[in-house]
Formats: sequence, structure tokens, C-alpha cells
Amino acid sequence: MNKTAIVTGGARRIGAAICRHLHACGLDVIIHYHTSDAAAEALAVELETQRPGSVRLLKADLAEVVFEDLVREALTFNDRIDVLINNASLFYPTPLDDLSEDNWQEMLNINLKAPLCLARCAADYLARQSGCIINITDIYAEIPLADYIIYSLTQSGLTRMTRQLARDLAPGIRVNAIAPGAILWPEHRPAGHEQAILERIPLQRIGDVMDIARAAEFLINDAGYLTGQVITVDGGRRLNF
Ligand SMILES: NC(=O)c1ccc[n+]([C@@H]2O[C@H](COP(=O)([O-])OP(=O)(O)OC[C@H]3O[C@@H](n4cnc5c(N)ncnc54)[C@H](OP(=O)(O)O)[C@@H]3O)[C@@H](O)[C@H]2O)c1
Repeated sequence: MNKTAIVTGGARRIGAAICRHLHACGLDVIIHYHTSDAAAEALAVELETQRPGSVRLLKADLAEVVFEDLVREALTFNDRIDVLINNASLFYPTPLDDLSEDNWQEMLNINLKAPLCLARCAADYLARQSGCIINITDIYAEIPLADYIIYSLTQSGLTRMTRQLARDLAPGIRVNAIAPGAILWPEHRPAGHEQAILERIPLQRIGDVMDIARAAEFLINDAGYLTGQVITVDGGRRLNF
């Protein structure tokens, strides 16, 4: 049975690139998604055409799901989990003068509670495979992004969680994070946003989804002595804050 990875929010954008790349590297993939049914199904068909029996779709709202059930369902695929990639997240502004309890709960649930609960529920199975967890965080875990205080706090928490889990789940499971800079533009963005960001990136371009996918491959296959680390993939943006 092939190594098996679960990628949350795996139907589109960065998550889909990670699924495609890990699949090309020989892993079977469990593509978790929530609302992107059509994209998830298209991706599954694409990958299944290349290697039949190598993909499973898992639909769940991470705000509502029972995490034990989600992991149990994932195990019905290959009866193993080698890699958990916590990629799903919510990203929207929450200006200080417009904070709401709903936004707070929603973002904490998806960006912070879900990765922790998935890690906890999958831990026994990951340990059996000497597996690994990769949390996709953000450079804004460390540098403040104006008007995004709740998102930024969740990303800081996820970074801190990465180190804590690396300690608590060792030696059986390695836990690392990837902190992307600008990789894909947000789907809803203000005018002038792109130029303002580009001017602050020393490499003078945004990244590619494959930069994140290859970092994930490295953490899975070539980083056996790495745990509790964050790989920043940002073209140097953090140097020019
Ligand atoms: N894009 C960038 O340049 C960038 C920069 C820095 C950090 N990041 C981080 O990289 C990761 C991927 O970025 P992205 O831009 O590709 O992400 P995205 O498109 O904003 O979101 C990824 C997925 O999260 C899933 N999701 C949201 N709410 C959910 C819920 N309630 N239950 C289950 N799934 C839910 C969605 O799945 P469905 O579509 O199926 O609903 C969505 O496709 C994120 O963790 C993000 O914080 C991205």
C-alpha cells in the first residue's frame, strides 16, 4: 500500500497543487474539501486517470465535523495515514472596530482548532508509519498584517502549535510548518494590492504553488531529522517588512 497523505482544503489553489505533486511523487492522496465539490471531483478524476485507486475524496465542514469520524473515514481508504497536511484556512479582514464573536469563533475553529484536533485524532496512525504533520501557516504569523488581527493570531497560534506538537508527538511523528508569503493573490483584493506587495518582495515576483508543494515533499521525504521547524517560502518578503 502506498504512503497516504490527507490534505485539508485540497480541492483548489495551494491545496490542489500539494495533492497533485505528492501524487506525482507516488503518494496516495485523500483530498479533503468542503464547498468545492466540482473542483474536488475534477482533481480526483485527473489523478485517478493517472493511477487508478490512488485518490479518495473526503467532504467535511471543519467547523462542524466530528474529527474522530473524519479520521476513521480516512482510514477506510488505505488503512494508513502517513502525512497530515493542515492547509484549509479562512482568510478575511477583521478590522479592530468591526470585530465580531462569529468571526472570532469561525476563524479559530478552522485555522487553529481543526489542525489540532486532526493531529490528535490521527496521531496514533501517523506514529505507526513514522509519519509527519505539516501545518501551512503564513509569514503574517510573525509580522502584523493591517486589519487582519484574528487571522494573524490564528497563524501565530498554528506556528506555536507546530513546535508544541513536535515536542509532544516525538519521536514517532515529525511536525513542521511551511509559511508562504504571496503565492496566489486572494480572490477578493483591493485595487493596488498587487503592486504594493510586489514592491516589498526582494525576488520581485510572487511565488508559485509548486514552491509550497516542493517544500512539502522535502519535509515528507528528505527531512528525517527536522521537527518543530517553519520553512518560510516568501521570496524574501519578510526581510523587507
Ligand atoms: N494564497 C497565498 O498566497 C497564501 C499566503 C500565505 C499563506 N497561505 C496559506 O496557505 C494555505 C492555502 O492557501 P490558499 O490561498 O490556497 O487557501 P484558500 O483558497 O483561502 O482556502 C483553502 C481551502 O480552505 C477550505 N476551507 C475553508 N473553510 C473551510 C471549512 N469550514 N471546512 C473545511 N474546509 C474549509 C476551503 O475548501 P472548499 O473550497 O472546499 O470550501 C478552501 O478551498 C492556507 O492555510 C493559507 O493560510 C496562503
